[in-house]
Amino acid sequence: MPDSRHFRPASRRAEAPEALGAYPLIRMRRNRSTQWVRDLVAENRLSVEDLIWPLFVREDSEKEAEIASMPGVRRHTVAEATEAVREAAALGIPAVALFPHVDDALKTPDAREAYNPENLICRAVRTISEAVPDIGIVCDVALDPFNSQGHDGIVRDGEILNDESIEVLCRQAIVQAAAGCDVIAPSDMMDGRIGALRTALDQAGFEHVRICSYAAKYASAFYGPFRDAIGSSGLLVGDKKSYQLDPANSDEAMREVALDLQEGADMIMVKPGMPYLDIIRRVKERFTVPTLAYQVSGEYAMIRCAGQQGWLDGEKAMLESLLAFKRAGADAILTYFALEVARKLKQD
Ligand code: PBG
Repeated sequence: MPDSRHFRPASRRAEAPEALGAYPLIRMRRNRSTQWVRDLVAENRLSVEDLIWPLFVREDSEKEAEIASMPGVRRHTVAEATEAVREAAALGIPAVALFPHVDDALKTPDAREAYNPENLICRAVRTISEAVPDIGIVCDVALDPFNSQGHDGIVRDGEILNDESIEVLCRQAIVQAAAGCDVIAPSDMMDGRIGALRTALDQAGFEHVRICSYAAKYASAFYGPFRDAIGSSGLLVGDKKSYQLDPANSDEAMREVALDLQEGADMIMVKPGMPYLDIIRRVKERFTVPTLAYQVSGEYAMIRCAGQQGWLDGEKAMLESLLAFKRAGADAILTYFALEVARKLKQD
């Protein structure tokens, strides 16, 4: 272990250099000198129970499985997704998050496919929850996979309509819950949607279905590859700055979290992850509620692609990035690396 040999034991040490004698020398390196002591004093650890695996689902008729901007991630048919989730469950991953790649022909201004009980996501949830009953299933509530303009809400004359969007989002959540979804995760950032969703779910008899609010979701360039994956990047008109948070702000995120908790959120999500570790820390310290971090598609792409180029050690960077979420205070992490990490942790 060459890294443990960087200090010399006292018996073999010559006189301490003059300059070091002026103050008591506190040897911080003692607790870093060998693997066992590093293990002993480690404050945080990454474990498979921390992971949520986001998966993209496609129709059988859709042949395009690869996602150019996310090497190593693919769009699964429902049958493939079921097998993949089976492996995730066997490895001990507690939950998966499903995202649909919807045929362009089904995308409309009113996003009505979002609340079709036979839509791709509902069919996937039904099949997976039946085949793999012990894993948690998280569904995104937002209209972007179904909206012809790629926005998370309903658009009229270039404006994203808040209250009209919420009605559609509630209908979307109900069909997902009815299909067997365990956690409804609204990522749309409309005002008041958590309270409305809670009420709608309760009234429909889904009191047991949890809400994980993407409360602190920033208007980020790091979502680029995800939009390729669900096929909304070519459609998106304008940007999402009128509803997603301004990357310049963190007080605003605290207010969003406070409101979403008041409205009944069970868990809070911060997104993206690595550029927003300060937000995770602030949320966790201030609200002491289950706090999730999303290592988003752009973060995945950066680490994966630099690793593939040999510009950094991809596996080490993957593990370090995820440990950093734990240190910041995240209780769980959504990451496209989840399966790989679970396999790696099992083998170690
Ligand atoms: C959309 C949604 C996005 C992500 C999750 N849900 C993208 C967006 O807001 O445009 C991003 C996830 C990722 O980049 O991995 N409702």
